[in-house]
Amino acid sequence: MSDIKGLLVSSIANGGLHQDHISKIITFRQFGNEQGYLLLENMPIGRIPPTPRDRRLIGKHDNQSERLILQTTALLGEPIGYVQESDGNIVNNFFPHKQHSRKKTSDSYDTELDLHTENAFHAVQPDYLVLLCLRQDPGSEAITYISSIEQIRHHLTPDCLDFFFTEKYNFLSDYCPNGKNCRLDIGKNQTVLYGDPADPMFRFDPQFMVARNGYAQYQMTRLRDIAWREARPLKLRTGDLLIIDNRKTAHARSAFSARFDGTDRWLQRTFVVCNHRYYTEKLGRSTRVFDLVANL
Ligand SMILES: [Fe+2]
Repeated sequence: MSDIKGLLVSSIANGGLHQDHISKIITFRQFGNEQGYLLLENMPIGRIPPTPRDRRLIGKHDNQSERLILQTTALLGEPIGYVQESDGNIVNNFFPHKQHSRKKTSDSYDTELDLHTENAFHAVQPDYLVLLCLRQDPGSEAITYISSIEQIRHHLTPDCLDFFFTEKYNFLSDYCPNGKNCRLDIGKNQTVLYGDPADPMFRFDPQFMVARNGYAQYQMTRLRDIAWREARPLKLRTGDLLIIDNRKTAHARSAFSARFDGTDRWLQRTFVVCNHRYYTEKLGRSTRVFDLVANL
């Protein structure tokens, strides 16, 4: 923890963001936007070694990219981690892992990840995700999709909006107590839309949501179709910094190819919460790294 504090202090002092980047990030946090994300291109990421094949083999000596993503994260709120993600590290690294081939995880590459809001089952749900592309995949195949409720809602009738504000789905947990890629029933029954009906927030993860009956299942499938139709495709390139509003969107990722020769796609990611003190109050302890919390 003291390590991350030192890195955060130097990131805030010297993360590489210019004043116009800082203005854009704070404006996005204060006011949001229609598409639910902010993309900053050609950002300074320092010297990037060959993409490793395993997290234990990351030989990264220049920490410019960590400072950039952490400075961005600190402008949005508090950087947090989960014990189930990259051993609780605050900056997560993603690149293709041969042993995760064909799995629906961020470490896979040859399997599409369906639209999902990140950790929608978790009581400490990230408000934002920050992705920093250290290296684009050599075939430029990887596409990140973002679908925003601000665009989806135009296709929903008032009755439909009302339905998603009241109908509860059981959101299964992707996390087990000490690992991930589970499907645990933690009794997390919650609505897809929540907050202010005039400006709704959105959580959606059709692969992990259990409907109460056939009608709720039908509505979920229909909403998934609309969300995919409205999804914006982004091909992240080296130096792209992407901030996703995780309370207003769902995101997905296409399959892509891997070569395992040091040139593969490499992304860094952080999670942001905006109300860390509320979680501290509810949990009775202050932590930056959370385990599985179903309810507060
Ligand atoms: Fe995700």
